[in-house]
Amino acid sequence: MPSYALTINGRSHTVESGPDTPLLWVLRDALGLTGTKYGCGQGVCGACTVHESGQAVRSCQISIAAAAGKRFTTIEGLGSRALHRCQQAWLDLDVSQCGYCQPGMIMAAAALLAENPAPSDAEIDAAMSDLVCRCGTYNRMREAIRRAAGRAGAR
Ligand code: FES
Ligand code: FES
Repeated sequence: MPSYALTINGRSHTVESGPDTPLLWVLRDALGLTGTKYGCGQGVCGACTVHESGQAVRSCQISIAAAAGKRFTTIEGLGSRALHRCQQAWLDLDVSQCGYCQPGMIMAAAALLAENPAPSDAEIDAAMSDLVCRCGTYNRMREAIRRAAGRAGAR
């Protein structure tokens, strides 16, 4: 079995796996980082969203062979020192319902704010529109992103 070196949340790991194994399974099964969720496995729901060098990517669509040598951050690493402002806003506004989709949502929101610190509502909607929440928390997520961007209450 080949082995691959990758960096997750600032720590180096070497994982033995078949080359086509999705990064999602490496995170969850090999490394025990179960905050990243399996939803569709086909790149359409966003539950598995992590950051690759700060960009939001879908870990179910990245093979370990493609991930080798790259740096990823998961929801566990996002708030490892102190809560990320998105995590705090999510808590402040009690966004989560079942919570299953929310790690991916927060990772997508954090990547958005890193790239665009003051997104308009349209930009928020565009960034989040291809992530699926079965519980329908979209309005509260938008409000939380506004809050994290420092414009709570703005419309
Ligand atoms: S599990 Fe990866 S996009 Fe749905
Ligand atoms: S909070 Fe339940 S799926 Fe989004």
